[in-house]
Amino acid sequence: MEIQQIKQRFGIIGNYPGLDRAIDIARQVAPTDLSVMITGESGTGKEVFPQIIHSLGGRKHGPYIAVNCGAIPDGTIDSELFGHEKGSFTGAHDTRKGYFEVVSGGTIFLDEVAELPLSTQVRLLRVLETGEFIRVGSSKVIKTDVRVVAATNIDITTAIRKSKFREDLYYRLNTVPIHVPSLKQRGNDIYLLFRKFASDFSERYRMPSIRLDEEARQILVNYEWPGNVRQLKNITEQLSIIEQEREISASTLINYLPDYQKTRLPALIRGEHVSEEAFNSEREILYKVLFDMKNDINDLKKLVAQIMEKGSMSREIKQDNEGIIKKLYATVDDMPADASDLISHHGQRQTSKPMEEEHITDTEEIVEESLSLEDKEIELINKALEKHNGKRKYAAQDLGISERTLYRKIKEYNIEQ
Ligand SMILES: Nc1ncnc2c1ncn2[C@@H]1O[C@H](COP(=O)(O)OP(=O)(O)OP(=O)(O)O)[C@@H](O)[C@H]1O
Ligand SMILES: [Mg+2]
Repeated sequence: MEIQQIKQRFGIIGNYPGLDRAIDIARQVAPTDLSVMITGESGTGKEVFPQIIHSLGGRKHGPYIAVNCGAIPDGTIDSELFGHEKGSFTGAHDTRKGYFEVVSGGTIFLDEVAELPLSTQVRLLRVLETGEFIRVGSSKVIKTDVRVVAATNIDITTAIRKSKFREDLYYRLNTVPIHVPSLKQRGNDIYLLFRKFASDFSERYRMPSIRLDEEARQILVNYEWPGNVRQLKNITEQLSIIEQEREISASTLINYLPDYQKTRLPALIRGEHVSEEAFNSEREILYKVLFDMKNDINDLKKLVAQIMEKGSMSREIKQDNEGIIKKLYATVDDMPADASDLISHHGQRQTSKPMEEEHITDTEEIVEESLSLEDKEIELINKALEKHNGKRKYAAQDLGISERTLYRKIKEYNIEQ
């Protein structure tokens, strides 16, 4: 049978050479009794291969059974595969034949074979080498004629290194290896599969088939597809059901692709990286705004707490919180009447207006808001700090202001020390 015919018969979509090679090996090995090991990531389409091998070989009229080794508890797997004698363990009320006995003359597909417990691996090796096995709880050797096709989606060499899988069994199973390529390697096959699934789902759900616009198609073909064909099928189904608009755009598609940003992007959509950078700097700005806001709220809390404690905004509170009050109300009109003497009208920042006559000492050197004065002030502060090796206490003394005022000014003017 030709590869194309096999694809048609088993519903395999795609023309990627690696996929064709896998089908070709299955076709060639089918008439023999050799063990076959199918490897490939989860969702790549391994399950169809044992069926191809079985139905193109001499056993096609014999039984076929697929056993998911990962789904059967360790305690019962030996009994499932090789059978047991009545009374061999609690609950073994009857003698039972195992798959290796029942399927004699046919094919057993051992899916997720790496999940087999080590004790079962020993039994399996024996049956592969001699065609003989014994039921659990029995000593009678039984002959069988079973072909084994195994599959795994894990790296079995790692399992061997960790002593979780027997090396001798691996070589015995791996007589003929078949590797199913991952979806991301398959290029335009990805789009062919999408079209096939889209048309299947449109039939199933009786609605027009979804399509992709050009950009969405590029994204589809360049995505990583960690879940391979299974994931593509699921996403196509979701899109078919959820999206009203039948032509799917790139932005819609991206919503369905987890970790889309991690994908290596083609030249066409490099722009995404630029906007990611822009997004990052925007995020930084947002963080800064939030951070400032948080500081304002903390200041406010402090102020309100003091007011609550002392009844109204006493002179003492004003004095202690002069910096905060100015900072908080510098850009708003609705400042409390109590504090309005600190700020000029129209919300302009006015660092110079003295609060009360008694406090002129601290603030009188800044008479009114003036850039040049501000510059002079910064210059003087810098000089004083330099002169006193950054020691604020002495710098403040030299400047003739209180240490607190100096501290406030350093913060206000963002003077670096
Ligand atoms: N080439 C293909 N053409 C059409 N459908 C495919 C193809 N490959 C895979 N599929 C479909 O993708 C789904 C997943 O495939 P399958 O169950 O064989 O994956 P798997 O390799 O056995 O994965 P796992 O290791 O997780 O068991 C199935 O529905 C299968 O029909
Ligand atoms: Mg599978």
